[in-house]
Amino acid sequence: MSYKIATIPGDGIGPEVVDETLPLLHEVASRHGVDMEFTEYDWGTERYLETGEMMPDDALDQIVDADSILLGAVGHPDVRDHITLHGLLLPIRKGFNQQVCKRPSILFDGVESPLRGYESGDIDFVVFRENTEGEYSDAGGRIHEGFEHEVAVQSAVHTREGTETIVRAAFEAATERDGHLTSITKSNAQAFSMTFWDDVVGEIAPEYPDVEVESLLVDAASMDLVRRPDQFDVLVASNLFGDILTDIGAIVSGSMGLAPSGNINVDDEYPSMFEPVHGSAPDIVGQGVANPMATVLSAAMMFENLGEDAVSDALWSAVRAVLADDDAPVTPDLGGSASTGEVVDAIEERL
Ligand code: NAI
Ligand code: MG
Repeated sequence: MSYKIATIPGDGIGPEVVDETLPLLHEVASRHGVDMEFTEYDWGTERYLETGEMMPDDALDQIVDADSILLGAVGHPDVRDHITLHGLLLPIRKGFNQQVCKRPSILFDGVESPLRGYESGDIDFVVFRENTEGEYSDAGGRIHEGFEHEVAVQSAVHTREGTETIVRAAFEAATERDGHLTSITKSNAQAFSMTFWDDVVGEIAPEYPDVEVESLLVDAASMDLVRRPDQFDVLVASNLFGDILTDIGAIVSGSMGLAPSGNINVDDEYPSMFEPVHGSAPDIVGQGVANPMATVLSAAMMFENLGEDAVSDALWSAVRAVLADDDAPVTPDLGGSASTGEVVDAIEERL
């Protein structure tokens, strides 16, 4: 098999983690008889500062024929975040109808949680985040800008089709995992959108009689992800709630540098996109110490999505083996002093 992958290293530590990871992906794929062709796109904030655009007008046309997309991160301290996000990441997620965002949180052997008393494997859940609408719908505006009577309106838009798609994906995952699904809402305060969400969950639940459904308000869920993270299996949440909860998920399982994600186009009409949960980390950029594991595991999710399970498994196992080995190098976020490249080399040794 051979795959064409569009890579968008992006900003900050994005290029650091992507550039170091690509040779590893070539290597692991070729060992399984899989040929990888990576094409790099230099889209991001450097381009924005030169041209006023994060990516060209025909950007989506340029990458629509790729089998998948691997992205580093976007975001730059000199440019306001809504410009970078709306100029690159969100147009791809929305334009390629990547409705399902899948984000696993796992406490790996050898990694210490900041929460007391949890051991390897105790924390192992996956968040299904709605990825193209909800609070990120871009519906709204600002009027009377700069005046005392200025008004800002930002509406969340939840469609039946979008909600059903994410809820169904989460039920399917719960069926394959431990059969427990937690639906996250704020139905007490958001009495239109979130009661609609509850209704959709209630309508779909009978199709999955073996899945036990729990409903939690997002504030309580934030507390419970810290108080009892071991009791979660699959969570399903709107775009904004899912974004927030997955940062909690990443840190309770050890580090932002370990958390992978997939933005999935469920009907395979467009390419899916895989990226670490973390951002461009301006506080550590240029030091060569960004943890590449979130990117490597995002690539593992990409291979699984492409149907290359053996390649995916090899990457997951190699990352687990490095983390479990006390003598193996890890980056400072995990208490080590290794560089990005040294960690990638250690992963490669254990393939
Ligand atoms: P961030 O995820 O970039 O950093 C949060 C903290 O985690 C920092 O202390 C950082 O050093 C650490 N960290 C993140 N990734 C790491 C890695 N691989 N290895 C070691 N440590 C790591 O979030 P922050 O600081 O809120 O945002 C920075 C910029 O990134 C902003 O411009 C923001 O808009 C953007 N951003 C972009 C995202 C994306 O491209 N998907 C997601 C989140 C933020
Ligand atoms: Mg986020």
